[in-house]
Amino acid sequence: MDFKIAVLAGDGIGPEIIAQALKAVNATGKKFGHKFAFSPAVVGAVAIDVTGSPLPQETLDICRASDAILFGAIGDPKYDNDPKAKVRPEQGLLAMRKELGLYANIRPVSTFRSLADKSPLKREIVEGVDLVMVRELTGGIYFGRPQGRSEDGKTAYDSCVYTVAEIERIVRLGCNLAMARRKKVTVVDKANVLATSRLWRETSQRIAPEFPEIEIDYMFVDNAAMQLIQWPGKFDVVVTENMFGDILSDEASVITGSMGLLPSASVGTQTSVYEPIHGSYPQAAGKNIANPLATILSAAMMFETSFSLHKEGLAIRRAVSESIEAGFVTVDLDNANPRSTSEVGDWIAGYILNN
Ligand code: IPM
Ligand code: MG
Repeated sequence: MDFKIAVLAGDGIGPEIIAQALKAVNATGKKFGHKFAFSPAVVGAVAIDVTGSPLPQETLDICRASDAILFGAIGDPKYDNDPKAKVRPEQGLLAMRKELGLYANIRPVSTFRSLADKSPLKREIVEGVDLVMVRELTGGIYFGRPQGRSEDGKTAYDSCVYTVAEIERIVRLGCNLAMARRKKVTVVDKANVLATSRLWRETSQRIAPEFPEIEIDYMFVDNAAMQLIQWPGKFDVVVTENMFGDILSDEASVITGSMGLLPSASVGTQTSVYEPIHGSYPQAAGKNIANPLATILSAAMMFETSFSLHKEGLAIRRAVSESIEAGFVTVDLDNANPRSTSEVGDWIAGYILNN
């Protein structure tokens, strides 16, 4: 088959890790007989430098014309210490979510046996953890209006807004994911305090009978934050709103101790974005030391989720697992005998082609 892929490398280590993912995609195409047309486009601080906008119209047009989008990272320290900056790289990310209708952020979190000792939690707590965080991405307090300041500047406000349709869509997506897994869904909210959360709970309860095989439970977000650390192994699919999901998915990402390994998909109404969950890691930019595995695994998610090509996704996953087992990894995973970003990318592409 033929696919059009928009390639948004972005800032910091973005270009280096995306280059390795493209090697894996090309190797997979060669092995399974698929062709790809890659369209590079700028986003983030790099895009501000060139065009003045963190998400130029041309980039958006390229994204809309693509079957999937591979995304590196955005963010540059020169904006972090300047709260008055008029345009910020992060605005590009939020605009992309809204413009492309990327309503579901999916972050799988699972343990690689040989890396369990990297976790800040005890081995027996993290071993066997296999959960998926499903975060609603285009609603809630991130986008709710009104938002702003009073005229005298002494009061500020954000609004948390959700519609039934938005909640139904994400809860159904979570339940469908769970059907292919352990059939357990935890809906996280703050229904004891927030009106939007009560709508979440009411709507989820109404949807639940559509999935008679799924066991759905409901949990307040503060309790969920605690239980994720105490018993991460008991979660299967966690579905939650935008802000709670932002916080809980960062928490979940460190459970396994291998943040550099975690991919994500942001599923859209027309096209979807695949990106590592780690950021632009500016300190490592250009040094050929960053871990490319999360981006390569994001490409595996792209094959599975956007192209419905499961053997292809599995071939990439297997190559990544083998590289870890073989100890052919970057410095974050092996201080004593580290391989470079591009060496790991070449090894994985080679493994895909030859196995
Ligand atoms: C994320 C990030 C973004 C968010 C920031 C960079 C705007 O933290 O993707 O989780 O808050 O959604
Ligand atoms: Mg976040």
